[in-house]
Amino acid sequence: MLYYRRLWLLTSVLATFTVTGVVAQNSSQILSVLESIVDCASCLAALIPLQVLAHLGNDAFSDTFIAVCDIAQLEDPDVCSGLLSRLGPIIAHDLRSIDVAGQTGNRLCDALFGFCASKTPNAFSVPLPSPIGPVALPSTPTVRKAPFQVVHISDVHIDREYTVGSEANCTKNICCRNFADEAGDPITDPAQPFGNSKCDSPISLADSMLEAVNSFNAQFVIFTGDVVEGAIWLTTQDEVTSDLTDFNAEMLSKITAPIFPAIGNHDSTPVNSFPRNTTDTTLDVQWVFDTQSAGWEHWIGSAASQQVDHISGSYAATVPDMNLVILSVNTQYWYRQNLWLYDSNTFQPDPNGILSFMVEQLQAAEDAGQRVWVIGHIPLGKADTIEDQSNYYDQILQRYKDTIVGQFFGHSHKDQFEIAYSDYSDQTAANAVGVGLICPALTPTSGNPAFKVYDVDPDTLGIMNIRVIFANISDPSFQKNPTWSVYYDARETYGPLVGLPATSELTPAFWHNLTEVFMTNDTAFQLFNTFLSRGGAVSPCTDVDNCKNTTICDQRAFRSQNNCDVDEGAFGMLRRRNVGGSQRQERTECEGIGIRDIFDEIRGSMQV
Ligand SMILES: *[C@@H]1O[C@H](CO)[C@@H](O)[C@H](O)[C@H]1NC(C)=O
Ligand SMILES: *[C@@H]1O[C@H](CO)[C@@H](O)[C@H](O)[C@H]1NC(C)=O
Ligand SMILES: *[C@@H]1O[C@H](CO)[C@@H](O)[C@H](O)[C@H]1NC(C)=O
Ligand SMILES: *[C@@H]1O[C@H](CO)[C@@H](O)[C@H](O)[C@H]1NC(C)=O
Ligand SMILES: *[C@@H]1O[C@H](CO)[C@@H](O)[C@H](O)[C@H]1NC(C)=O
Ligand SMILES: *[C@@H]1O[C@H](CO)[C@@H](O)[C@H](O)[C@H]1NC(C)=O
Ligand SMILES: *[C@@H]1O[C@H](CO)[C@@H](O)[C@H](O)[C@H]1NC(C)=O
Repeated sequence: MLYYRRLWLLTSVLATFTVTGVVAQNSSQILSVLESIVDCASCLAALIPLQVLAHLGNDAFSDTFIAVCDIAQLEDPDVCSGLLSRLGPIIAHDLRSIDVAGQTGNRLCDALFGFCASKTPNAFSVPLPSPIGPVALPSTPTVRKAPFQVVHISDVHIDREYTVGSEANCTKNICCRNFADEAGDPITDPAQPFGNSKCDSPISLADSMLEAVNSFNAQFVIFTGDVVEGAIWLTTQDEVTSDLTDFNAEMLSKITAPIFPAIGNHDSTPVNSFPRNTTDTTLDVQWVFDTQSAGWEHWIGSAASQQVDHISGSYAATVPDMNLVILSVNTQYWYRQNLWLYDSNTFQPDPNGILSFMVEQLQAAEDAGQRVWVIGHIPLGKADTIEDQSNYYDQILQRYKDTIVGQFFGHSHKDQFEIAYSDYSDQTAANAVGVGLICPALTPTSGNPAFKVYDVDPDTLGIMNIRVIFANISDPSFQKNPTWSVYYDARETYGPLVGLPATSELTPAFWHNLTEVFMTNDTAFQLFNTFLSRGGAVSPCTDVDNCKNTTICDQRAFRSQNNCDVDEGAFGMLRRRNVGGSQRQERTECEGIGIRDIFDEIRGSMQV
């Protein structure tokens, strides 16, 4: 079978030369076009026949890609057809709308194939009001009051079709469902009541976590998005709407504290689909904002709920009885895998005005002497955030660094942080001006299910401590009733390594000093690497040049232009493909099986 496939592929390669640039309308021709992509130039050349195909219509485009996926046996047929019929029309719309030789063509090559990446953002100065005077900061108390608690949960990815007894060891991205094409197959590994590392979270696991969360008596809870499970080739508007509604109801019934949520890239369909409001399409996602506007109003109030509806899912809400504003931003307009972002030749620095909304809200908070916590799904520093908006967000952070006293994200499924510097070429403790704290996931696909509990100083609203709470999926009692316990205590574990004084907060400078320790103390670094996935499914990271330095570099990159994930240059072109195993794994976990993976597999299958 494999031999046949290779022979077949070889013949199609020979045809490539006659095909590229001319008309490529059937699946074998398109497969050749895809296989011809080896660098940025060949990627841009390939967009020409793909554009011709797009002009034949969405159905012709999607059907051709489904056939390619099937012929090459890249995924199960239901995954090929479900995923490509959902994403194909967006890609075809892009190709019909742009000059493929321009910058947007380069960006599309990057998003779809990992070529033509640029680490250089388009120059743009975010309009920022000048400060009227110095921001009045609360003086650091010499005697700290008792901290209050805030719980951070993320990436619950609840699979409402999780079926106990179904196959947990399947051929798809997530298992533990009665998939139609598996009907009648003998079960080799029956799904258990509380979850499996190859499956998204059953409702039972989510309920168990929400009960554990409630037991911390937090002042409030933040949830940084991704409600919906990873069967992205099957999701529909009906399913996503009821998934969002059901989880809102479950949080409301199980948690007494107010909850401040954010929208994730899975909280739409197709996955990552958030069209710009300048795009004329029948596939808009106002229904997501309507659903969450209604579902969140109970916690965030009516003014913020109106904002969710009108500011594409973002809002600002004051925490009751506190001098603190939660600014929740829809980060999906800055996400490289939001394929709607590639449908215009005109550069749009601030899609849907999310950045200008942030500035407006931060200025209002500064004027009122309030502090702000920013919450969002996708952290700004990773390779999957577009360099432009990551840079522009950082400009806002530099301007409002005294007002923003916390930033909280999810999406990576890992327990991580990202430090912002006033000068990224001089990364020192003194220059560290902000930090994004990233919450681990509930879904067991990326290690043990976990959440974070913060101890917060009531005067400064800064973070005094973080405890990561986890349930050990390998523990025999897990399938009877998961036990949630402290996995590690950041102050206890990391404080002594940097000589943290007893009354100091976990400041950006603290996190910077910790990365210095990771450079020199491998035991400490390995502890961090194990913590990433809460001690389950740990990816080894011992090689200094290929893994350790990159990992440390990435914790120092609040802006995506500063991460170390681009590591293969070919003739001046950068290619994001040769990233370390754990980074590719992380990408797959965040996106599910995405379009990039399918295209990677198509081209990978060529390397005989
Ligand atoms: C695709 O088109 C080429 C050229 O028109 C033709 O030779 C080939 O048989 C077609 N293949 C399929 C699978 O339709
Ligand atoms: C899962 O399936 C693979 C391939 O069929 C097999 O090699 C593996 O042993 C199975 N694992 C379990 C836990 O059943
Ligand atoms: C669309 O986005 C622009 C910013 O790009 C914003 O000014 C405008 O208010 C938005 N319109 C709607 C209807 O959301
Ligand atoms: C989880 O439980 C397993 C089985 O009891 C044990 O071997 C493992 O060390 C535990 N993991 C953690 C992080 O406690
Ligand atoms: C970080 O390290 C520097 C240099 O050793 C030290 O001066 C500073 O006090 C440390 N800051 C924190 C917050 O640990
Ligand atoms: C290195 O880190 C380990 C683990 O945290 C710690 O026990 C040890 O004391 C550290 N070594 C030094 C020299 O600080
Ligand atoms: C990795 O970090 C070490 C310690 O700072 C440094 O000596 C080494 O040159 C770095 N390697 C790379 C490839 O950057």
